[in-house]
Amino acid sequence: MAHLILGIESSCDDTSAAVIRDEYLLSNIMAGQEVHRNYGGVIPELASRAHQQNILPVVDQAVRQAGVRLDRIDAIAFTRGPGLLGSLLVGTSFAKGLALALDKPLVEVNHLQGHILSHFIKQKDRENRHPEFPFLALLVSGGHTQIVKVTDYLKFEVIGHTIDDAVGEAFDKCAKMLNLGYPGGPVIDKLAKTGNERRFQFAKPHIADLNFSFSGIKTSLLYFLRDRVRENENFIEENKADICASFQKHLIDILMDKLIKAVRLTGITQIALGGGVSANSGLRTRMEQEGNARGWTVFLPEFKFTTDNAAMIAVTGLYKFRQGLVCDLDVAPVSRAADMR
Ligand code: KG4
Ligand code: ZN
Repeated sequence: MAHLILGIESSCDDTSAAVIRDEYLLSNIMAGQEVHRNYGGVIPELASRAHQQNILPVVDQAVRQAGVRLDRIDAIAFTRGPGLLGSLLVGTSFAKGLALALDKPLVEVNHLQGHILSHFIKQKDRENRHPEFPFLALLVSGGHTQIVKVTDYLKFEVIGHTIDDAVGEAFDKCAKMLNLGYPGGPVIDKLAKTGNERRFQFAKPHIADLNFSFSGIKTSLLYFLRDRVRENENFIEENKADICASFQKHLIDILMDKLIKAVRLTGITQIALGGGVSANSGLRTRMEQEGNARGWTVFLPEFKFTTDNAAMIAVTGLYKFRQGLVCDLDVAPVSRAADMR
């Protein structure tokens, strides 16, 4: 019998609800939060307040658009973490309240696993390609940068991770230095398209194994800009596109070096990209180029599944529900991925 799952996501600054029937998407509603733009970053207190306002209409719309009755839902899946605690609390409390009121099972979902399993969401009249197990996932977001070996729907092994900042943070902080606003990733991506990516070079970090580091690159960009602005006060304005293109290429090079190493070490050639930064057009193109050159089968998420969305939470919840992995009503959100196991 088909399973109907309601997914709820509220880990950062997007409130989202989705309904799936087995892996098939029936609805996926998202409400972003404009309020943070003025502050150059997500303000946790404002984020949780906005979630409070958004969550009921978003869930209501998701259920209506799916054309299902709430009492027909088989389980409610929600993001337990990682993320901002105040934001997670809103989704978690809402999911618990609904589960209690409807007497439905509750399934907690790890947001990062959600990003990875977003490749298994199916849509009507689409090709619906998905990676075969085992595959490697390059997970790139505002809070995380990981290489994950996935051997089954719920079997994940993090084989590489960042030892400091996430790659999304590097994009955002670079944008801040260039006065491009928040979030920086999409703006850098756009400007990079018209720039010369070979114009400026930055020093590569030397980090052991499959791990990453992005905090040094931020500092080197800061000093680079300071020195150039000393010589020409209009340096940034006059060279914005080239700086963005060079910086973006540098970040992509760092990611690809480790991914290529991971493929060599594991022998796995099914590669899936996930997380907010997977929207980056430079990274997507490069993944395809490397994939063609090296014989990988590459899976890029559709744009609407690159940002935080509840469809990925619902599909991950579906796999957990099928394995009987439901949770109790006293479940509490967790902000750090390491605390989720
Ligand atoms: O997965 P996500 O929506 O939230 C987290 O779970 O962290 O990722 C957000 C991150 C931000 O750092 C944002 O700048 C970045 O994804 N991002 C991009 C692009 N679109 C979003 N980075 C580079 N290029 C993009 N086109
Ligand atoms: Zn995310």
